[in-house]
Amino acid sequence: MKDMAVNVVCTLVLAPILAFGIFAVSWWGTMPASVPESPPVHSPHNQNSTKGPPGLNSSISQNVRPVSGRTLFLANCASCHGSDGSGQGEMVLDRPARSFKDGGFSFGNTISSIERVISSGIPGTPMPGFKATLDPRQRLAVAKYVQSLGPPLVVVDPDDTELIVTDRPKVIRGELAPVAEGQPSHVRGLIAGGTDGLSWEYRTDDVRLLAVRQGDFVKRANWSGRSGEPIKPLGRMVRAVRGGAAGPSFYVNGKPVKSQLAGTSVVKGSMAIRQKLSVGDIHVQEVGQAATVGAMSGYERVYAIENPQMDRLSINLNLDGSAESLGTGVNGVHWFRSTGPGGLVEITGLRQATLDQLNDTVLATVPDSKAATVTITTLLVPEWNAELQETLLGKDRSA
Ligand code: HEC
Repeated sequence: MKDMAVNVVCTLVLAPILAFGIFAVSWWGTMPASVPESPPVHSPHNQNSTKGPPGLNSSISQNVRPVSGRTLFLANCASCHGSDGSGQGEMVLDRPARSFKDGGFSFGNTISSIERVISSGIPGTPMPGFKATLDPRQRLAVAKYVQSLGPPLVVVDPDDTELIVTDRPKVIRGELAPVAEGQPSHVRGLIAGGTDGLSWEYRTDDVRLLAVRQGDFVKRANWSGRSGEPIKPLGRMVRAVRGGAAGPSFYVNGKPVKSQLAGTSVVKGSMAIRQKLSVGDIHVQEVGQAATVGAMSGYERVYAIENPQMDRLSINLNLDGSAESLGTGVNGVHWFRSTGPGGLVEITGLRQATLDQLNDTVLATVPDSKAATVTITTLLVPEWNAELQETLLGKDRSA
């Protein structure tokens, strides 16, 4: 309802404001998200003091939508989504961009879910993340514009059949249905949902990440744990780790070990999974969050490790294929490329760890230290090219 009110206010107010020129437009752009009940009234003398060039394109003033959102959309999104949001942009994509006009939002059509997709992108598709290129206010403006392109919102009663992660991460424990056909279900598991819209499915008898999803969280029926059914995740699959059959998460001194769940806690907007390994006195806290590098999107896991006896510890990367080194990025991340699920290209970035190979298993070995923090980034892209390589590694300095 509020967004509708914003649109109405825009219709009534924007046209006269635009007549004052660029100054007024930029004023709108910097307005806080909450629109005042009664818009500021510009007295005629303001018109004289306005420095902006006169005669601003009058066709814009016909538009009922927030100008800054529309301008940002045309500059950043229209090449793929079409200037009218129909999904018919100039860029030819194997996987077509969404038509917003039909309201086909598979990640939700609320402002916050659209904003999350704009920030993080959609891993494995051409949809880039705009966290680095648009600031939060711009992302909000363009999200509102995208929403306004769709059919009118149907206001439904607060839906209590679905559990949604909004301001705080959530975790739900229970039985997990098979992640993919032919895989076992797991009696003990958990799904953790972060405020960035990603959710993380772990088996917990031996802690292993099975899947990462994006979008909505889980069906409310599971929340009480009394439904007697496995938890039903709602998000769209980003990655089923090894097709849902993830190997052991950790290796100590070259051998796979079990990881016991020690608890969960909230770290910033994400759930932290705390674990104790069966060998050594090793404790690991694992935090998953959305990640973008340039136009590539995916997720990263940050491991805070206590290893008082300095055993040789490795983290299983659970790659589908073997990894080829691409080089080290400007920020010290070592990047690798492998063939990911469904023919996607999987890019793995290691910070504070080195790549290791044990038979068919690709591992990230942690430096010998009593306390270490390792970051493993996973980006999924439809195809590989020189431009992406340059994004990761920076410009070739010899050129
Ligand atoms: C390089 C092409 C490209 C650009 C640029 C691009 N998008 Fe997308 N976008 C896509 C594709 C492709 C999809 C559909 C991905 C899929 O799910 O298969 C998509 C999906 C989306 C979705 C998800 C809709 C849903 O299903 O819920 C939103 C929202 C979105 N884009 C917004 C934007 C906005 C806003 C911009 C500009 C700030 C933008 N996109 C720029 C290609 C692009």
